[in-house]
Amino acid sequence: MRKRAVVLAGCVAGAALLAGQALVAQKTKGKTRLAATKQIMAGIMQPNCSALVAAFKGTSPADDKGWQTAAQQAALLNEVGYLLMDDGRCPDAVWAGAAKTLREGSAAVLDAVGKKDAAAANTAIGTMTSACKSCHTAHKGK
Ligand code: HEC
Repeated sequence: MRKRAVVLAGCVAGAALLAGQALVAQKTKGKTRLAATKQIMAGIMQPNCSALVAAFKGTSPADDKGWQTAAQQAALLNEVGYLLMDDGRCPDAVWAGAAKTLREGSAAVLDAVGKKDAAAANTAIGTMTSACKSCHTAHKGK
């Protein structure tokens, strides 16, 4: 009787551990696609986000080409907002909410860029980057 209880407790702890590992795996890579979350972050998210922030921090694009580049950066960040929800990667509501904020914030950036409204773009960039923070606080390195 006692032995059985110990074995049972061991199994429950083991299952919880396995579930925890599965959750981390899910966040760091989807189920079938090849790109790791880290690679999406370092290769798409970070370069486009920092270039966009720099383009509107106390300044604005100098010419049409600059505005087009900003539109491309906002569009790619919006796309990542969908990617993060695909392939079984999303573990919980915090993640889903941050991905939604990323999509909505980047859509507002794209809208402002279309109107060449630098002040509105800057505000929307702030909304967009709040998504980075909320997801990272809950999930990065955890
Ligand atoms: C929905 C969740 C989520 C959102 C939103 C998010 N990230 Fe991440 N990010 C992660 C996770 C999870 C990791 C850790 C991945 C790992 O180490 O496997 C990460 C890691 C990173 C890294 C480190 C990459 C490396 O080489 O180790 C950078 C840089 C980064 N994110 C930038 C950003 C920026 C910029 C934004 C916002 C524009 C953002 N992230 C939004 C989940 C998110």
